[in-house]
Amino acid sequence: MTEDRIRNAALRSRIVTPEQAAALIEPGQTVAMSGFTGSGYPKAVPVALAARIEQVHAAGQPFQIRLLTGASTAPELDGALAKVDGIALRLPFQSDPEARRRINDGSLAYIDAHLSHVAQHAWFGFYGDIDVAVIEAVAIREDGTIVPSTSVGNSKTWLDLAKRVIVEVNEVQPLALEGMHDIYYGTALPPQRRPIPLEHADDRIGDTALRCDPDKIVAIVRTAAPDRNSPFNPPDEASQRIAAFLVEFLQHEVAKGRLPKGLLPLQSGVGNIPNAVLANLADSGFRDLTAFTEVIQDGMLDLLESGVLRSASCTGFALSPEASLRFEANLGFFRERIVLRTQEISNHPELVRRLGCIGMNGMVEVDIYGNVNSTHIMGSRMQNGIGGSGDFARNGFLSIFMSPSTAKNGTISSIVPMVSHVDHTEHDVSIVVTEYGLADLRGLSPKQRARVLIDRCAHPDYRDALEDYFARALRESYGKHTPHLLPEALSWHQRWLDTGDMRATR
Ligand code: COA
Repeated sequence: MTEDRIRNAALRSRIVTPEQAAALIEPGQTVAMSGFTGSGYPKAVPVALAARIEQVHAAGQPFQIRLLTGASTAPELDGALAKVDGIALRLPFQSDPEARRRINDGSLAYIDAHLSHVAQHAWFGFYGDIDVAVIEAVAIREDGTIVPSTSVGNSKTWLDLAKRVIVEVNEVQPLALEGMHDIYYGTALPPQRRPIPLEHADDRIGDTALRCDPDKIVAIVRTAAPDRNSPFNPPDEASQRIAAFLVEFLQHEVAKGRLPKGLLPLQSGVGNIPNAVLANLADSGFRDLTAFTEVIQDGMLDLLESGVLRSASCTGFALSPEASLRFEANLGFFRERIVLRTQEISNHPELVRRLGCIGMNGMVEVDIYGNVNSTHIMGSRMQNGIGGSGDFARNGFLSIFMSPSTAKNGTISSIVPMVSHVDHTEHDVSIVVTEYGLADLRGLSPKQRARVLIDRCAHPDYRDALEDYFARALRESYGKHTPHLLPEALSWHQRWLDTGDMRATR
C-alpha cells in the first residue's frame, strides 16, 4: 500500500505520526492547507495541531496560527482549530459554525476574499510569508510530484510558496482520481502575464499532479478517513419553484436566440436551491450542457450520468455520502468527464468572461435596485463569505441570484429597500429569482428595476410596504436617479433587530 501511494522511496523515510507533523508548526506561523467545500482537506494534522494548541493554552502560553485554505473545510480542520481558539486569522471562505461564532464575537479575524484573488494576492505578498503547507494527496509520485485528492483549491500556490510542506496521503481517497486533475503552471505576475490557453470548459491545459521540491517535504502522514460529506435536504417547495422559474427562463433565452441550445457553461453555487435547479435541468429537455464551476454537487453528478451534462470543470466536490459512493464506484466514467483545476483557473475572470459562464448563486438579500448581499446577516454578522460568487457575477454572461422571498419564518423580507451590506453591486446582477417569480434586470434603469423586483420577487406580505417606500422615495429623495430616503432605508433591518419582525414596519 505504501509503495503504491508513496512511490518515491527516499520520501518514505519522512513518514511520521500526525502529532510529530503538528509539532513542526510554530505559534504565529502562517499555515496554508488544502481543502475546498469540505473536500480534499487534511484530516489528521489539524486535529493533532488543535490538541497541541490546547495543551499550550493550558500551560498559559499563547498559540495561534494564521490559516489559509482553498475555501471551507470541515469540523476536523476549521472546527477543531477554532474550538481551541487556535486561529488568529482566517481566509478566504469558511462555513464552520465554530469559526463563524468566533468571527462574529470578534475574536477571529477573517478576510473574506474573492476566490480568484487568493493565489495572486499570496504571490503579491499581501498575506506575508507562508511558513507551512499541509496538503492532502492520494499519492506522491516517483518524481516527487503530488497527486491531490478530491480538491485542488489553492494547493499549487501553497506548495510553490511554502517554506516547508507536510503531505497527508489519504488511503481511502481513490487512487483512480489520478488523471482527473489539470494543474496549470502558466500563470505569472504582471507584467509577464500571458493569455491562459483555455477556450472550452473541458480543455486540459496543465499537469495531472502538483509540482513540489521534494526537499521541502518535511513530513508525510498516512491517513484513512473520508471527506466529511453532508446529505442534501430534499428540495422544499420554494426551491422547486425557484428552480422551475429559472429553467423556464433559460428555455426562453434559447428560444429568443440569446443562448445556444447547449446553453453556456454553468456555474452553480452550493446548497439546496442550486441543487434543485440542477435537478430541474435534468427534466428540461436540455442536452450536451457543460459546467465551468467551483464545486460539483449531487445534482451535477446526476446530470453527468444522465448525459444532460457533457463535462464539468471544477476545483472540488460537495457530495452527499450516497453520491460520494456512486462517484467512487463509477470513477472511470467520471474521470472522462470531470476536470479538477486550481481555483485560480476555475474562477479566473479572464476565463469566466471568455466562456460566458451562467453564474447561479444564492444570496442573503437584494435591494429594490438590484444590489445583492451574499454574506452579512443584518449588515454585520458574517454567514460564510463571498466565495466565488463575485468572480462569476462580475464576469459571467448571466449573473443570477436566487433566494426564498423571506427568511426566519417570514419575519424577514429578502427584498429590502437597501441591502445592509453590498457584495454584488447593481451593475453585476442580471437576474433575481424567488419562489414568486423571476426579475430580469438586464437593460433596465434603477427605477425600472425596482418595479420589476417588487412586482415579481417580493413576498406578498411585504409588497405594499416596499411600494410605499419606493413611492415616497420617488417624491422625496434628494436625487431621483436611485431614489432613497436615507434615514429610513435601513430601518427594516433595525426594526427586525429591535422586534424580531420586519413586518412591524407597517
Ligand atoms: N436576512 C437574515 N437572515 C437570513 C436571510 C436574510 N435575508 N436570508 C437567509 N438568512 C439566514 C437563514 O435564516 C439562515 O440562518 P440560520 O443558519 O440561523 O438558520 C442562514 O442565513 C442561511 O440561510 P439558508 O437559507 O440556509 O442559506 P443557503 O444555504 O441557501 O445559503 C447563502 C445562502 C447566501 C448564505 C449562501 O448561498 C452563501 O454563502 N453564498 C455566498 C457564497 C457563494 O455564493 N458561493 C457560491 C460560489 S463558491
